[in-house]
Amino acid sequence: MTSITYASSATQPFSDEDLKALLIKARDNNSKLGITGLLLYKDGNFMQTVEGPEDAVRELYKKINADPRHTHILKLLEYEITERSFPTWGMGFRNLNDVGAKEIPGYSEFLNTGLTSPFFQKNPTKAQKLLLMFRQTMR
Ligand SMILES: Cc1cc2nc3c(=O)[nH]c(=O)nc-3n(C[C@H](O)[C@H](O)[C@H](O)COP(=O)(O)O)c2cc1C
Repeated sequence: MTSITYASSATQPFSDEDLKALLIKARDNNSKLGITGLLLYKDGNFMQTVEGPEDAVRELYKKINADPRHTHILKLLEYEITERSFPTWGMGFRNLNDVGAKEIPGYSEFLNTGLTSPFFQKNPTKAQKLLLMFRQTMR
Protein backbone atom coordinates (compact mmCIF):
# COMPACT_ATOMS: atom_id res chain seq x y z
CA MET A 1 0.00 0.00 0.00
CA THR A 2 0.93 3.64 -0.42
CA SER A 3 0.38 6.80 1.57
CA ILE A 4 0.41 10.28 0.02
CA THR A 5 0.20 13.52 1.99
CA TYR A 6 -0.17 16.92 0.33
CA ALA A 7 -1.17 20.49 1.14
CA SER A 8 -3.17 22.83 -1.13
CA SER A 9 -5.03 26.13 -1.26
CA ALA A 10 -8.75 26.39 -1.97
CA THR A 11 -9.55 28.51 -5.04
CA GLN A 12 -12.83 29.57 -3.42
CA PRO A 13 -13.88 29.80 0.21
CA PHE A 14 -15.46 26.52 1.36
CA SER A 15 -18.62 26.85 3.42
CA ASP A 16 -19.56 24.10 5.88
CA GLU A 17 -21.99 22.85 3.21
CA ASP A 18 -19.26 22.78 0.55
CA LEU A 19 -17.01 20.79 2.88
CA LYS A 20 -19.83 18.41 3.73
CA ALA A 21 -20.62 17.78 0.04
CA LEU A 22 -16.94 17.16 -0.70
CA LEU A 23 -16.70 14.68 2.16
CA ILE A 24 -19.86 12.75 1.30
CA LYS A 25 -18.57 12.22 -2.24
CA ALA A 26 -15.03 11.42 -1.07
CA ARG A 27 -16.20 8.86 1.51
CA ASP A 28 -18.49 7.19 -1.00
CA ASN A 29 -15.68 6.90 -3.59
CA ASN A 30 -13.01 5.94 -1.08
CA SER A 31 -15.00 3.09 0.43
CA LYS A 32 -15.29 1.53 -3.04
CA LEU A 33 -11.55 1.96 -3.63
CA GLY A 34 -10.33 0.76 -0.23
CA ILE A 35 -8.89 4.21 0.49
CA THR A 36 -8.75 5.75 3.96
CA GLY A 37 -7.25 8.97 5.30
CA LEU A 38 -7.69 12.34 6.93
CA LEU A 39 -8.46 15.81 5.58
CA LEU A 40 -7.69 19.02 7.49
CA TYR A 41 -9.04 22.45 6.56
CA LYS A 42 -7.78 25.75 7.95
CA ASP A 43 -8.00 29.33 6.64
CA GLY A 44 -8.73 28.22 3.08
CA ASN A 45 -5.97 25.62 2.98
CA PHE A 46 -6.12 21.83 2.98
CA MET A 47 -3.81 19.08 4.16
CA GLN A 48 -4.75 15.50 3.36
CA THR A 49 -3.39 11.98 3.68
CA VAL A 50 -4.79 9.33 1.34
CA GLU A 51 -3.71 5.73 1.92
CA GLY A 52 -4.57 2.36 0.40
CA PRO A 53 -3.72 0.16 -2.59
CA GLU A 54 -0.94 1.84 -4.59
CA ASP A 55 -2.75 2.07 -7.94
CA ALA A 56 -5.98 3.36 -6.37
CA VAL A 57 -4.14 6.01 -4.34
CA ARG A 58 -2.13 7.19 -7.37
CA GLU A 59 -5.29 7.39 -9.51
CA LEU A 60 -7.16 9.31 -6.82
CA TYR A 61 -4.25 11.68 -6.28
CA LYS A 62 -4.29 12.48 -10.01
CA LYS A 63 -8.03 13.19 -9.83
CA ILE A 64 -7.61 15.36 -6.74
CA ASN A 65 -4.76 17.23 -8.48
CA ALA A 66 -7.06 18.07 -11.38
CA ASP A 67 -9.85 19.37 -9.13
CA PRO A 68 -10.37 23.11 -9.85
CA ARG A 69 -11.61 23.75 -6.30
CA HIS A 70 -8.02 23.95 -5.10
CA THR A 71 -4.57 24.88 -6.41
CA HIS A 72 -0.85 25.00 -5.49
CA ILE A 73 -1.01 21.32 -4.62
CA LEU A 74 2.22 20.39 -2.95
CA LYS A 75 3.12 16.78 -2.24
CA LEU A 76 4.75 16.54 1.20
CA LEU A 77 5.12 12.77 1.62
CA GLU A 78 4.74 9.62 -0.44
CA TYR A 79 5.86 6.26 0.87
CA GLU A 80 5.01 2.61 0.95
CA ILE A 81 3.09 1.38 3.98
CA THR A 82 2.26 -2.03 5.38
CA GLU A 83 -0.21 -0.66 7.89
CA ARG A 84 -2.71 2.18 7.62
CA SER A 85 -2.53 5.25 9.87
CA PHE A 86 -6.28 5.92 9.58
CA PRO A 87 -7.78 2.44 9.12
CA THR A 88 -11.32 3.32 10.27
CA TRP A 89 -11.80 6.55 8.32
CA GLY A 90 -13.11 6.51 4.74
CA MET A 91 -12.01 10.13 5.02
CA GLY A 92 -11.71 11.69 8.47
CA PHE A 93 -12.16 15.44 8.61
CA ARG A 94 -11.29 18.28 10.95
CA ASN A 95 -11.95 21.99 10.41
CA LEU A 96 -9.19 23.68 12.36
CA ASN A 97 -11.01 27.01 12.23
CA ASP A 98 -13.59 25.62 14.65
CA VAL A 99 -13.44 26.67 18.25
CA GLY A 100 -12.03 23.83 20.24
CA ALA A 101 -9.27 22.96 17.78
CA LYS A 102 -6.91 24.83 20.11
CA GLU A 103 -7.62 22.28 22.81
CA ILE A 104 -6.28 19.34 20.79
CA PRO A 105 -3.29 17.98 22.72
CA GLY A 106 -0.08 18.91 20.91
CA TYR A 107 -1.77 21.27 18.45
CA SER A 108 -0.39 24.47 20.03
CA GLU A 109 2.91 23.87 18.20
CA PHE A 110 1.05 24.32 14.90
CA LEU A 111 -1.52 26.92 15.89
CA ASN A 112 0.05 29.73 13.86
CA THR A 113 1.44 27.61 11.04
CA GLY A 114 -0.58 27.61 7.81
CA LEU A 115 -1.17 24.18 6.28
CA THR A 116 0.64 25.29 3.10
CA SER A 117 3.53 26.88 4.99
CA PRO A 118 7.07 26.14 3.70
CA PHE A 119 7.66 24.84 7.25
CA PHE A 120 5.87 21.60 6.35
CA GLN A 121 7.75 21.35 3.07
CA LYS A 122 11.03 21.60 4.95
CA ASN A 123 9.82 19.31 7.74
CA PRO A 124 7.44 16.79 6.17
CA THR A 125 7.58 14.60 9.26
CA LYS A 126 5.95 17.50 11.13
CA ALA A 127 3.05 17.34 8.67
CA GLN A 128 2.74 13.68 9.54
CA LYS A 129 2.89 14.50 13.23
CA LEU A 130 0.12 17.07 12.82
CA LEU A 131 -2.15 14.61 11.01
CA LEU A 132 -1.48 11.76 13.42
CA MET A 133 -2.35 14.04 16.33
CA PHE A 134 -5.99 13.74 15.30
CA ARG A 135 -6.19 9.98 15.54
CA GLN A 136 -6.98 10.12 19.23
CA THR A 137 -9.30 13.09 19.11
CA MET A 138 -11.66 12.20 16.28
CA ARG A 139 -15.01 10.60 16.51
C1 LIG B 1 -9.21 18.97 -0.91
C2 LIG B 1 -9.90 17.88 -1.68
C3 LIG B 1 -9.87 16.58 -1.21
C4 LIG B 1 -10.50 15.55 -1.89
N1 LIG B 1 -10.46 14.27 -1.41
C5 LIG B 1 -11.08 13.28 -2.09
C6 LIG B 1 -11.05 11.94 -1.63
O1 LIG B 1 -10.46 11.61 -0.58
N2 LIG B 1 -11.70 11.00 -2.37
C7 LIG B 1 -12.37 11.29 -3.52
O2 LIG B 1 -12.94 10.41 -4.14
N3 LIG B 1 -12.43 12.56 -3.96
C8 LIG B 1 -11.81 13.55 -3.29
N4 LIG B 1 -11.88 14.83 -3.76
C9 LIG B 1 -12.71 15.10 -4.95
C10 LIG B 1 -12.00 14.73 -6.24
O3 LIG B 1 -11.12 15.77 -6.60
C11 LIG B 1 -13.04 14.51 -7.36
O4 LIG B 1 -13.89 15.62 -7.44
C12 LIG B 1 -13.87 13.29 -7.12
O5 LIG B 1 -13.09 12.18 -6.79
C13 LIG B 1 -14.65 12.99 -8.40
O6 LIG B 1 -15.44 11.89 -8.17
P1 LIG B 1 -16.26 11.23 -9.39
O7 LIG B 1 -15.22 10.87 -10.42
O8 LIG B 1 -16.92 10.06 -8.77
O9 LIG B 1 -17.22 12.29 -9.86
C14 LIG B 1 -11.22 15.86 -3.08
C15 LIG B 1 -11.24 17.18 -3.55
C16 LIG B 1 -10.60 18.19 -2.87
C17 LIG B 1 -10.66 19.59 -3.39
